[in-house]
Amino acid sequence: MGKSYKIGVIKGDGIGPEIVDEAIKVLDAVSVKEGFTLRYEEMLLGGAAIDETGVPLPDETIQGVKKCDAVLFGAIGGPKWDNLERHLRPETGLLGLRKEMGTFANLRPAMVYDELVNASTLKPEVIRGVDIMVVRELTGGIYFGQPRAIEDDRAYNTMVYTREEVERIAVVAFDIAMKRNKRICSVDKANVLEVSQFWREIVEEVAKDYPEVELTHMYVDNAAMQLIRAPKQFDVILTGNIFGDILSDAASMLSGSIGLLPSASTGKGVGLYEPIHGSAPDIAGQGIANPLATISSASMMLRYAFGEEKAAERIDEAIKKALAEGYRTGDLGDYDAKEICSCSEIGDIIADYASK
Ligand code: IPM
Ligand code: MG
Repeated sequence: MGKSYKIGVIKGDGIGPEIVDEAIKVLDAVSVKEGFTLRYEEMLLGGAAIDETGVPLPDETIQGVKKCDAVLFGAIGGPKWDNLERHLRPETGLLGLRKEMGTFANLRPAMVYDELVNASTLKPEVIRGVDIMVVRELTGGIYFGQPRAIEDDRAYNTMVYTREEVERIAVVAFDIAMKRNKRICSVDKANVLEVSQFWREIVEEVAKDYPEVELTHMYVDNAAMQLIRAPKQFDVILTGNIFGDILSDAASMLSGSIGLLPSASTGKGVGLYEPIHGSAPDIAGQGIANPLATISSASMMLRYAFGEEKAAERIDEAIKKALAEGYRTGDLGDYDAKEICSCSEIGDIIADYASK
């Protein structure tokens, strides 16, 4: 009998349910071909959880994810929940889940599909062949630092990193660099922030264990500029939580649409696989969302969580083939499109190609 994996499914809000359904369609197709079984268990998070249970991260979800082999996640948030107190907001639920799961390493690949070099706002010669891996620290830094508060006449957050937190994310980045082009650019703001100076020193120490890897450092403002000016100079970008949040959105635009890029959040145990984009409430429920980032996240899950490399390959190739054949969702409709597809149509096409 083939292997069997249990996937926690968190569809979330906005376009979350639509895009996750397409990813499951594709997962089912490749699992049949590659002879393994997938079981799914749905869990609540974000606005959907608030509506149902009153809190953005219910206990059942915290307990539930721990019993899965991996978690596939869509997106959360929307105007309906924007005015809630911070501890009740959908985003707080997602941050809490990342923390609970110990997923401190967020891997955000930014690659450019050859078929879509015209889709970016940047010139084709600048972006053709871009292949960057952003390694973002995900459970520390200013997102989680204490103290934090809003007072009457001032407000503050704390950007804090411990040695252990920097070391372990640096190790992840160096291990990844060893499997790629062996170059890391660590991004910080060491000219201004003590926490960045500390970050830099520790990354230098970790680098000693990886003599083959070329390590450079860059200030985050410069990195933002260089990503747009000459993105091909980067292989692995290693950075903290908030800089990684910002830079990965910027990097996503190299690919032409934020609807294309996947991410994997890994760490101590079960990993969380999610598109880097948000819940796009403005287009939710219309069937026009681009599910490719989520389908691609499902491929990362097969590869990293289950070691099902062949099944992951099938998905990656199917996405490329669909793009090469000119199938596009509306966000990419202006670029060499033969046919504009709905969310579920492109899901059908990819599921079909992936099972050939
Ligand atoms: C992301 C998102 C989240 C973040 C939000 C929704 C909390 O922007 O995954 O990049 O800031 O980490
Ligand atoms: Mg973000």
